[in-house]
Amino acid sequence: MFPTERPRRLRRTSALRRLVAETTLRPSDFVAPLFVAEGRREPTPITSLPGHFQHTIDSLRKEVHSLQLRGVQSVILFGVPATKDETGSGAWDPNGIAQVALRALRDDVGDEMVIMADLCLDEYTTHGHCGVLDAQGNVDNDATLELYATTALAQAHAGAAVVAPSGMMDGQVAAIRQALDADGFVNTVIMAYAAKYASALYGPFREAVGVQIAGGGDRRAYQQDYANRREALREARADVEQGADIVMVKPATTYLDIVSDLRRELDVPVCAYHVSGEYAMVKAAGANGWLDADALALEQLTAIRRAGADFILTYFAGEVAEVLGR
Ligand code: PBG
Repeated sequence: MFPTERPRRLRRTSALRRLVAETTLRPSDFVAPLFVAEGRREPTPITSLPGHFQHTIDSLRKEVHSLQLRGVQSVILFGVPATKDETGSGAWDPNGIAQVALRALRDDVGDEMVIMADLCLDEYTTHGHCGVLDAQGNVDNDATLELYATTALAQAHAGAAVVAPSGMMDGQVAAIRQALDADGFVNTVIMAYAAKYASALYGPFREAVGVQIAGGGDRRAYQQDYANRREALREARADVEQGADIVMVKPATTYLDIVSDLRRELDVPVCAYHVSGEYAMVKAAGANGWLDADALALEQLTAIRRAGADFILTYFAGEVAEVLGR
């Protein structure tokens, strides 16, 4: 008896496999995260993110140019200030490092690339939380909203085409949309970190931006509990109602069910953030010779797209774009 079904026919050659592939990965599917530090003369390597640096304005501009040559057309900026304070005022200072960098990139690439700004206070606060604290030391949701609105305006003025609030305050998208519209920035896009989980995968990022949460604290009082799936939909729907143009799921590979839910239930673009710890794990195992890091990067990024992400924020953007271009 011959089998009637022969799925293997379509797997015989790499050309056939490419022809029938359900999911594609292109350099333009990536957003590259970049760190820019105030008051440095040289770019500083980030140990736990091999290949990544705290950039100077100069090295940042070169990196963005090199990404553009590889077909990556979107970047998201994180500022690392020289000094921090209680409220995180460096986040909205017109001469704060993120704003200086945004202006430099706007002058270099304008609208040829999509320039995004991460919108949060944790890099700028002494206590390392994503908002301001009340008298009891808890993050004050509503007082933080005003500071996010001010920060969004500073970023839009400096040239951000997209602002990406990542602090998980309730009502943050509405507050930012209102402030942007009132100041004439009706075309500034909001990409909401809608379903952002309190994850152990952010460790290398915190090294990259020099953030330590005061008293060994964590963000479980505002980021989502990884035990919950339905809650992500509720968060994302709320963000879309408030005016989010794009919603994001973060981290990515351990949250593919969430990516899939949001893609199915919502009509806005869905982004997934393949975070610092996901990158670091692949890199570390690769460096030990325990697995093929390039192959695993492709597998993970493709799986994230297969689950439903329209595009991916990833530390692999530059190197995988190069692999794809070969
Ligand atoms: C908060 C923020 C974090 C990341 C992006 N924005 C850290 C956190 O929530 O503690 C982490 C990204 C990564 O790990 O790559 N501003």
